[in-house]
Amino acid sequence: MSILGCPLCATSGRSTKLANGYILRWLLWNVAQPQVDMDDPLKKAKEKAAASYNSAADHFDDEPLSFWDLIGKRTVTNLKLQAGAKVLDVCCGTGASALPAAQAVGKNGFVVGVDLAARLLDRARTKALAAGLDNVEFRLADMTALNYPDGSFDAW
Ligand SMILES: C[S@@+](CC[C@H](N)C(=O)[O-])C[C@H]1O[C@@H](n2cnc3c(N)ncnc32)[C@H](O)[C@@H]1O
Repeated sequence: MSILGCPLCATSGRSTKLANGYILRWLLWNVAQPQVDMDDPLKKAKEKAAASYNSAADHFDDEPLSFWDLIGKRTVTNLKLQAGAKVLDVCCGTGASALPAAQAVGKNGFVVGVDLAARLLDRARTKALAAGLDNVEFRLADMTALNYPDGSFDAW
């Protein structure tokens, strides 16, 4: 569905011929406008977020952004995760929280990291491999449409 302007202001008090000209121009103008998906207004925002974070992927683990690691580790420490726990980390980026969580829950636990940015997830998988962690899965998915059954996770 496109966002349309109002043709009424173009017709009131004017001759039919003039009005038809306005309406024709209005129709042509609307056809030329970018289509906005009003059925899912969040879709564009999510696409933009994915594109922005993918563009930043090459530098996402650089020193100026190292606060993500710090925050991630502290979050996991404060969670006091039990060995064997199942953890969901949405908006996981390159795994600043998911990776320490995978360490904390051990080989009998499991962590799922979800993000919209495929390039950040690639980095997260590389980091998991380097750390020898095989109890963490990084999924390209929208956190608002995960559909895990209730009770799937102990912490999220
Ligand atoms: C500020 S970053 C978070 C960084 C991450 N916590 C880390 O430690 O690296 C925000 C992240 O949220 C993700 N994101 C935004 N909307 C999302 C959605 N609807 N579903 C999944 N991920 C989303 C972005 O792709 C981005 O990686």
